[in-house]
Amino acid sequence: MAAPITPEIVHQGLEVELALEFVRVVEEAAIESAKTMGQGDRDKADGVAVQAMRRVMDTVPMFGTIVIGEGERDEAPMLYIGEAVGAKPIDNVRYPEVDIAVDPLEGTNLCATGAPNAITVLAASERGGLLHAPDCYMEKLVVGPSSRGKVDLDAPVADNLNAIAKSLDRHVEDLVIVVLDRPRHAKLMEDIRATGARIRLIGDGDLSAGIAAAVLGTGVHAVMGIGGAPEGVITAAAMRCLNGEILARLVVDTPELEERMLRMGIKDKKKIYRAEDLAPGKHILFAATGVTDGSLLRGVRFFGEGTRTQSLIMTHDTGKIRFVDSIHVNQGPDFKVRF
Ligand code: FBP
Repeated sequence: MAAPITPEIVHQGLEVELALEFVRVVEEAAIESAKTMGQGDRDKADGVAVQAMRRVMDTVPMFGTIVIGEGERDEAPMLYIGEAVGAKPIDNVRYPEVDIAVDPLEGTNLCATGAPNAITVLAASERGGLLHAPDCYMEKLVVGPSSRGKVDLDAPVADNLNAIAKSLDRHVEDLVIVVLDRPRHAKLMEDIRATGARIRLIGDGDLSAGIAAAVLGTGVHAVMGIGGAPEGVITAAAMRCLNGEILARLVVDTPELEERMLRMGIKDKKKIYRAEDLAPGKHILFAATGVTDGSLLRGVRFFGEGTRTQSLIMTHDTGKIRFVDSIHVNQGPDFKVRF
């Protein structure tokens, strides 16, 4: 008879063993999508990432449930919300129960056009540790550790930028704020420019930008604007690990969405979420691999005899932030490994 699962065992399983298991998941998805880089086919890039992620996920010893994925069960063939994933247990072994939020390819256009900062990414936690956010838009303000508690989603842009500048001990003019290049952000951009702060407009990928904002030395000081809510939850998981902050509010602009939110148990549509609300788990894990070169991670490099990937794997509870540089060797007779 298997020993009872104690919270401590779940903890160890999640934090120690699963961390490296999940690296394989994001690595394989990155390698497959990187093969399509620059081909101009975002659906193909996404499709191969989804398939690779799903395939490797089923070798991970866990009772996993997708809580944020490719859509509802009837819209997505795999990695749909509610899908059970993980290896089949052998001899009644009890695997840890894990909730998983995936974005198999964050920045499908970035990969399709060979632009920077496409990543494959997931977050995991014990059951109930990640908000089951609907696939809608979300207002976001993402900052690093120094600016935590100093910003307010409803404050004027200038006040927030002054607070961020003060907390980083720099001038407002020296800030770089990442904003998704969308018409909906015209007023936001005007407000940021009026302060003198600089803007880095990005075509896609506010999740990887959010992570950069929480790491000193990346040259990104905040992310502002409206992006996807699922990306917001995964950003929150990263913020828990990096001691950064995301302030967020769902954009509920249709009666259908309001109804869907109610069905999901979200009653207050104006609620401002913090990282701890979006990713409240005690055992938060975050894993990402670079697909194209980015501010934080190098993209996948193919070199004939193998492939090289760079990943970021973080566990909140144990405070580990690992950059994992992997060489995946094609084991032919003459393979060589380069430093
Ligand atoms: P993909 O789904 O193509 O990877 O795009 C990701 C993304 O740019 C996110 O980073 C962002 O949160 C969201 O899409 C923005 O949505 P929209 O393109 O509808 O403005």
